[in-house]
Amino acid sequence: MKNYIDIPDKEVTTSLIKSAMNLKNDPFKDLAIGKNKRLIMLFFNASLRTRLSTQQAAEQLGMHVSILNISTAWSIEFEDGSIMNLEKAEHVKEAAQVISQYCDILAIRAFPSLTDKEKDLSEQLINGFKTHASVPIINMESATAHPLQALADALTIKEMSTKSTPKVVLTWAPHPKALPHSVANSFIKMMQQQPVDFSICHPEGYELDPNITKNTPISYNQEAALQGADFVYAKNWSSFNQYGQVTNQDSSWMLTEQKLDQAQFMHCLPIRRNVITEDAVLDGKKSLVIQQANNRTYAAQAVIKELLLNS
Ligand code: CP
Repeated sequence: MKNYIDIPDKEVTTSLIKSAMNLKNDPFKDLAIGKNKRLIMLFFNASLRTRLSTQQAAEQLGMHVSILNISTAWSIEFEDGSIMNLEKAEHVKEAAQVISQYCDILAIRAFPSLTDKEKDLSEQLINGFKTHASVPIINMESATAHPLQALADALTIKEMSTKSTPKVVLTWAPHPKALPHSVANSFIKMMQQQPVDFSICHPEGYELDPNITKNTPISYNQEAALQGADFVYAKNWSSFNQYGQVTNQDSSWMLTEQKLDQAQFMHCLPIRRNVITEDAVLDGKKSLVIQQANNRTYAAQAVIKELLLNS
């Protein structure tokens, strides 16, 4: 594995899930692997879980970690051939090469604009770093993907499933702000590889990128879709067709204890209580959200270990 920018193929994800499980059982067993190595994490956007879990993961492999909030650094230009006479002070061509000299792995968080679909889909920022860096790149959530989250989610389902083929439903839930498609995209790609009965439900008009949903069953009827579910993953995303717009805030799509029935509840966090789901779900025994967040460490640790050994 050269980078971890999107969901890799099934053979690799199977191996990463197994590695993450082993690391969870004995987090410090590979402390020597990262000795005298450094992870640099660049944040173009805010984070709680990704930042702390990825730092913990690297340190549990014996690495040093440097963190740069880009808002405190020079503003970076990504366009080729641009005349840099406005506010952008440094081009990604120099920035990526310079940062590569200071580290062994570079991890980046950069959300989409949600205004320029073509540019967001091109993943200009993370691909700019990938092109010009000389070290492996880890995606800590980009314009279209959040593969570290999806790996932790797959690990959580594997840990908690009592069936060989559990029913997993990804359901849209309301939110007041326009949110990216990255978590949903990566969860869909990951579930398409897993031994699960997977489907998606959302209101009409909230179709995701058909290049990602492919043949996954999609329902506009949440009640019918949730029938018999073992795992319900709630997530809001903004409209993909009316790109970045919030066209629906229908609170009848909020998840309740009654709707979930016997299903276990999943969400990547942060979550808006009594908007995405009611308090009773998050405070109840069927919520897996804290376990998912815990598994972020071991998912990241498995990815970093693989990159240190085999990139
Ligand atoms: N789930 C997730 O990526 O959380 P943060 O945005 O806090 O990193």
